[in-house]
Amino acid sequence: MFLTVHMPDGSAHRLEALEGWRVMEVIRDWGLPIKAECGGACACATCHVWVAEQWLDKLVPPSDEELEMLDGAFNVDERSRLCCQIIMSKELDGLEVELAPESLADTPQERIAVGG
Ligand code: FES
Repeated sequence: MFLTVHMPDGSAHRLEALEGWRVMEVIRDWGLPIKAECGGACACATCHVWVAEQWLDKLVPPSDEELEMLDGAFNVDERSRLCCQIIMSKELDGLEVELAPESLADTPQERIAVGG
């Protein structure tokens, strides 16, 4: 299954994803520069993405915890999610998200392979 990530610089990346992985993990493990400072604990909001509108109602709605963290993020709108809280599933094959500029890390992380 695949996930498309639009970066703040306008580039788009089609990443192979595995079922059960968090979107944040897929982005990070393919080496795209995402901050994700708390490592997926829903405690930082530096994995803020905007989900493409056609995918919004396919997602599990955000928890109160996620909404609370999003409250502290910039440029939050109805497409905003913390991507560490989105778990890849067959339903989400093809999901498209855009990384919020504040979630961009300064240096790309080491690229490791996801899946085959
Ligand atoms: Fe910290 Fe998602 S990585 S809230």
